Parts: sequence; C-alpha cells; structure tokens
Amino acid sequence: MFNALTPMPADPILGLLTQYRQDPNPLKVDLGVGVYKDEAGNTPILATVKIAEQWRTDNEQSKVYIGPTGSAPFNQLMTELALGNDHSALMANRIRTVSTPGGTGALKVAADLIERLRPGATIYVSDPTWANHTGLFATAGLTVRTYPYYDFANKGIRFEDMLAALELVGEQDVVLLHGCCHNPSGADLTNEQWDKVVDVARRRGFLPLIDLAYQGFGSGLDEDAYGVRKMAAAVDEMLLCTSCSKNFGLYRERIGSCSIMAKTSQAADTALSIMLYVIRCIYSMPPAHGAALVETILGSQALSAQWQQEVAVMRERINGNRELLVAKLHQLQTAKDFSFIANEKGMFSFLGLTPVQVKQLTADYSVYMVDSSRISIAGINQSNIDYLAKSITAVL
Ligand code: LMR
Repeated sequence: MFNALTPMPADPILGLLTQYRQDPNPLKVDLGVGVYKDEAGNTPILATVKIAEQWRTDNEQSKVYIGPTGSAPFNQLMTELALGNDHSALMANRIRTVSTPGGTGALKVAADLIERLRPGATIYVSDPTWANHTGLFATAGLTVRTYPYYDFANKGIRFEDMLAALELVGEQDVVLLHGCCHNPSGADLTNEQWDKVVDVARRRGFLPLIDLAYQGFGSGLDEDAYGVRKMAAAVDEMLLCTSCSKNFGLYRERIGSCSIMAKTSQAADTALSIMLYVIRCIYSMPPAHGAALVETILGSQALSAQWQQEVAVMRERINGNRELLVAKLHQLQTAKDFSFIANEKGMFSFLGLTPVQVKQLTADYSVYMVDSSRISIAGINQSNIDYLAKSITAVL
C-alpha cells in the first residue's frame, strides 16, 4: 500500500512553521500561521488560563471519560458567548452544542453531519477562504463551490456579486460564512451587509454554517458576533463552529464547539443524536483540558472580566500593527496604496503581492507569509517593522 506513493505537498499554512524554524537568518520575520504574538514575538499563555489551570490541577478529581458531547457547562457558556445570554433561539431551547477538538474539529463534525444528512450536498465557501476549508469539506464528501467575496483589485468585498450568487443557492445547499475577521482577507461584512445576507438566507432557505474562529479580535466580543446573532434570530436552522485557539490562546489544547440550531427543540434533540453518532465515529469524545479552562474563566465574573481585558489587549495590538505597517510602507514608497490594511479586521490581510514577490521576500529577506501574500498581522513588532517594510518595498 505504501510503495510508489506521491508525497503530498506541505500544508500551505502549517508548512511555513517548519521553514521559518529552520531559517538561521536572525532578521527573519514570521507572518505565516495565524497565532497571536506579543511585542517580543512570543505567544504567551493568558494570565486567566494560568489561573484556571492551577484551579484545575488543585480540584480535578477524575480523568474518567467525558462523553461525546464534552463538557456541558463549557457548551452552554460558549453558546452564550457567541449568541448572547438571552438570544431568542437559546430561550426557545433550539440549540444543542458539543465541545470539539478545536475549530477544525468543529468544522469536521459539521461536515460529516451534513454529509450524513444530505450525501454530496453542495457547500458554498467564500472566494477566497481559509485554505483548510476546501479540503475539509471535500474529504467529507461534500461538493465545494465558491461565491464571490474579496475584490483583489479594489481591496474590498464584491458585495453585489456575493449577494447575486447567494440568491441562486438552493434550499438543499449550505453556505459557509466567516462570523468575523475573514480569513484570509480581513475584509469583513458591515452590519448592513450582514442584514442583507441574513435576508437572503431567510428567503432562500439554505443552511448557513458560520465559522466563528476569531471572536473578539475584530471590533469586540459582542460586535464581532453581530452577524451570527442576527442570522440565528432570522432562520430556522443553522450550524455554528467556534474555536478557543485564538481568543483564549489555547492553540495546542484543541478546543472549540459545534452548535446545531434547529426549528424546534425536539428537532434539535434528534439532530444532536445524529451528531453524537458522527462524533463517536471520528474521535469518540473531545479532549477535556481546554474546555475545563474556558468554563472556569467564563463561569467566573472576575476571571471573565480579566479575560475580556486580555482579548482587548490582543485586539488593540493587532489594530496598532495595522496602522504601523501602513504608515511605514507609505513612508518608504508612494506607488502602492496600503491604507486598506488599516481598515481590515482580525489577524489577516493580503499584502497584494504576486506569488513571485512572496517567494522573493522569503528567499532573499527571510520574510514568511502564505503564497497568496496573506500576512498574520500579529507577527509585526517595533523591532522588525523597519526591516519588514524595507523588504516589502524592495520586492514591489
Ligand atoms: C491560520 O489560518 O493560519 C490558522 O487558522 C491556523 C491554521 O490551522 O491554519
């Protein structure tokens, strides 16, 4: 079976980690994988996570199996974080949430559930989207198509084209929407645009699957949830995938959640039973550590307030980096306008470079980013900004 195979190319995002680590250049800059970095270039453990870990060490009584749904308090708190405590769908008891191994695990559960309910269903993803979305849905058996999203020429959203495409999506189809901090473009729908997308979803009757992996990194925890809350209030059915990798910094703990919203409480129970079977067939049950930390933080008023501060610090640093990069690039050259970067949201933006320019940046300057010129803004700091801006200007 293993003879004469053709090797898979390295993952377009995760492969950069290895390349970066092996590069001996002391000036190297890592703008590849979407992980938060502080001014010193480290990805620290949040103070609230440290407190929660200590609490868990002191109080955990057993390592017995947790079950396919994961932790009930975590599931409840994560649903409330996304939708708000008093959302009409929560009040009507139409939502069922499970803990998952990261946001990717949540998407895999959603994908396998959809495939089980509607084999070969078509899922529409934004053009472009997170590199892993396509493979994840395609390997589950779904048909992946795209709807227009980012306008590379004008650095904005092709909103009219997007709406027109969504108007043609059928009732049996699924549409993946980025809840906030669009990955890879950083170009987010405005609230008015969300209202229009929600209206199309309601009228067309397709199933919205919202990927909310960066809540709190755009404009704020509640602000970033505008679209998901609005959608959940308007449609009968929805899937929601969240991740605690970024806003809790729990990358390697692999914890996120997947929620089903059904038309009635009874339908939600039945759909959950199928989701639990799907989970049992993939990984049986989710890891418990990350969920325990998140529920300790969100379940305590004091820790939750402290965590919100920590999220605000990360968000503000990223937004500051956006301004800094634009200012430095504009100091060094005037041929290309980069001001759009300051208006985008979350961890990523496209620099708008060609693949050849990106290759040159890596080969000649040890600046690492995805081939599409997607940069992870958190990798910028006061020590590398001058070198980075000069390197980018040199390849323009
Ligand atoms: C990214 O887009 O860089 C992150 O979501 C990390 C990943 O798993 O790709």
